[in-house]
Amino acid sequence: MNLPSFLWLWRIAAWSMGLTLTGYSLLAVTGSVLSYTRSKTVERSAWLRPLHIALGITMVMLVLVLLAIGLIGTLGEYGSLGHSIHLLFGLLVVALVLTSAWSASRIALERPWARSLHLTVNGLLGLGLMAVGLSGWQVVQKYLP
Ligand code: HEM
Ligand code: HEM
Repeated sequence: MNLPSFLWLWRIAAWSMGLTLTGYSLLAVTGSVLSYTRSKTVERSAWLRPLHIALGITMVMLVLVLLAIGLIGTLGEYGSLGHSIHLLFGLLVVALVLTSAWSASRIALERPWARSLHLTVNGLLGLGLMAVGLSGWQVVQKYLP
């Protein structure tokens, strides 16, 4: 790729990351209400679960977009991968978000492990998002004018 700069690409990455973090926060809130209303004494709004799932699917897609941007941009700039710890954090976050979505699809009364797996993976995902965001912020500095 012979573009003057990849700045526009990293700008999209920054915006997508903002949306991803917003999505994560909303998932934490809606997930907490789901957990609270699991007891039969408290009424749960019918739209809450579909909203949580829609937010989750959106976040998975955003993370996959960020993966594609990172890979395409890095290959375009260097012709190879693996230029910083950001690669490791990026792959980790992709693995965690896919595991979270898979564990969510397993949640059922007869599979109590799926719910605790969903919660553990989502905690780790929060840490992973911080790591990939901070390291991404660091590597993007050299593209800034
Ligand atoms: C990756 C995409 C995600 C999908 C597709 C998803 C989907 C689901 C589903 C289907 C349930 C079961 C709802 C029920 O019991 O009726 C659930 C529960 C829950 N989710 Fe998610 N979720 C995702 C991400 C997240 C994230 C990122 C968080 C936290 C930041 C989160 C927090 C929770 C919580 C707290 C519960 C309630 C567990 C309980 O009842 O004890 N989810 N999720
Ligand atoms: C879920 C979030 C993200 C994922 C999964 C992700 C993934 C990746 C991957 C796999 C690479 C290739 C790294 C390499 O081979 O060395 C990369 C590169 C890169 N990413 Fe990200 N990224 C994310 C967020 C961000 C953010 C928020 C920024 C900042 C705006 C950013 C900026 C960059 C830059 C500048 C590179 C080029 C690497 C370099 O110049 O050393 N990324 N990303």
